[in-house]
Amino acid sequence: MTIAIVVLISGRGSNLQSIIDAVDRGELPARIAAVISNEADALGLTRAQQAGIQTRVLNHRGFADRNDYDLTLRDLVAEYYPDLTVLAGFMRILGPQFVGHFEGRIMNIHPSLLPKYRGLNTHERALADRAREHGASVHFVTTDLDAGPIIIQTKVPIYEDDSPEILAERVLKEEHRILPQAIRWFAEDRLRIAEGHVLLDGETRPEQGLTYHLQ
Ligand code: GRF
Repeated sequence: MTIAIVVLISGRGSNLQSIIDAVDRGELPARIAAVISNEADALGLTRAQQAGIQTRVLNHRGFADRNDYDLTLRDLVAEYYPDLTVLAGFMRILGPQFVGHFEGRIMNIHPSLLPKYRGLNTHERALADRAREHGASVHFVTTDLDAGPIIIQTKVPIYEDDSPEILAERVLKEEHRILPQAIRWFAEDRLRIAEGHVLLDGETRPEQGLTYHLQ
């Protein structure tokens, strides 16, 4: 079965590109129905247009409050009847009006080994802590910021002379691998959530050098 995906972005869109490329290579039984950005000048919108994908912009600035924005975004996303909504560098916190509507059908990519470093500036914070390793996580979205059930994680080492930029680049490469992987599992209907944890094919297990659900 081919699933319909809506991707939400705010900027560069390199994770979006990794999804577009995986679909193009025939590795993802998915169709990107639309890409929606809260920023009109997001580079990811150009990437989507180049791939022939419909784009929409919903600027959060004109809205009275967060709730109002969430409701409008919810209706916009719902126009595309997505099986899955992917937050790929979408820099807005989504509240219950949005998340509740699509529960179990929203994923986010976060540049840290969750539950470490929720929120922003994850690379700077890992370096400031003199952490030895860092990474990225894809998780289902709940109303708790960056705290939903983890689908897949991947680790990278931190080296002595790393700058935030160099570390970010190392992590980003991994993001581009695990996000399409998580979407593929979802499309293949291999993911379940049980008691707040993600099961792949009915179990939690390490595979292909990837680390699942470290909590
Ligand atoms: C990624 O590191 C993502 O994990 C974070 O923001 C960055 C977005 O990059 N939330 P891009 O727009 O996908 O290139």
